[in-house]
Amino acid sequence: MKRILICGSNGLLGQRLSLLLSTRTEYEVLNTSIERTFVFDDKLFDYTQLDITSRSDVKSLISSFQPTVIFNAAAATNVDWCETHREETWKLNVVAVENLAEAARRVNAKLIHVSTDYIFDGKAGPYTETAQPNPLGYYGKSKLASENVVLSANINYAIVRTMVLFGYGINVKPNFALWVLQNLRQGNRIRVVDDQQGNATYVGDLAIAMIKLFELDKVGVYNVAGRDILSRYDFAVQIAEVFGFDPSLIQRIKSSELQQTAPRPMKSGLIVEKAERELGIRFHTAREGLLKLKQELEDCQKN
Ligand SMILES: NC(=O)c1ccc[n+]([C@@H]2O[C@H](COP(=O)([O-])OP(=O)(O)OC[C@H]3O[C@@H](n4cnc5c(N)ncnc54)[C@H](OP(=O)(O)O)[C@@H]3O)[C@@H](O)[C@H]2O)c1
Repeated sequence: MKRILICGSNGLLGQRLSLLLSTRTEYEVLNTSIERTFVFDDKLFDYTQLDITSRSDVKSLISSFQPTVIFNAAAATNVDWCETHREETWKLNVVAVENLAEAARRVNAKLIHVSTDYIFDGKAGPYTETAQPNPLGYYGKSKLASENVVLSANINYAIVRTMVLFGYGINVKPNFALWVLQNLRQGNRIRVVDDQQGNATYVGDLAIAMIKLFELDKVGVYNVAGRDILSRYDFAVQIAEVFGFDPSLIQRIKSSELQQTAPRPMKSGLIVEKAERELGIRFHTAREGLLKLKQELEDCQKN
């Protein structure tokens, strides 16, 4: 039986991978994350604590579980925090990936790793998989370094670049869509930039694409993101429209007014043709992804 190891199972992407894979009887799935307990019922899911920054723990768990594939959904993902916590960021986003790659090589496992559009400077997006990276901030630098770790590790791998991930998960850090929703629901006015553009990515699409990369044994770099490119402001307005809130609560501003700690790629975006063609998937547009999210939140309230 094929064995699947998920790292960072308690995160937004990790939870979705876990939900999609754990129902599949042909796989033995081991969920892991840094916390002692799993967000889902551990009678229904196999879970063990694993801090991927610990080289010895990674080595021993992987040599005993002998995974066919490792999905790495763990990372330091708050870009402003990364800018001011460089050592911790490097440890989790780069050294931990070295640990996974080294252990994967020993047991001949495939490593499916997630990267980001922040490896680009955002001067000339949207980008293909072969565009020249030039990260502006520390998060992007660390993720580019993690790609290079995977590329030079001499292992079977896939690197998935994604951006503006949104969706529902239990106790996940509020992603942009959940932050907008929470504020609109409370009737708060919010200020959203209209000069940062990119594709908003529904988490279900990313998880399904990663599973396909494994099942079709694809090797290389793949952009996986929503189908359409839009500004953050336009995305926020779509959120209001889909969920029936008042869009006039959203004020259009420029990035210079926000004074964010880390620099952002402004004209970003990922061209997803390669993944759609090779994986046989049509990714959702932002609006379609929001409709899926709406359905999930309604289902959650019913249960
Ligand atoms: N979110 C986005 O918009 C976005 C955009 C582009 C790319 N990505 C990439 O997509 C991937 C998944 O992102 P996400 O948004 O799902 O992240 P997330 O929700 O922050 O999930 C990451 C998970 O990893 C856990 N973790 C932290 N340190 C760990 C460690 N040392 N060992 C094991 N697990 C650890 C986190 O636990 P704690 O919560 O307790 O720290 C969290 O549960 C990441 O590689 C990210 O860089 C995300």
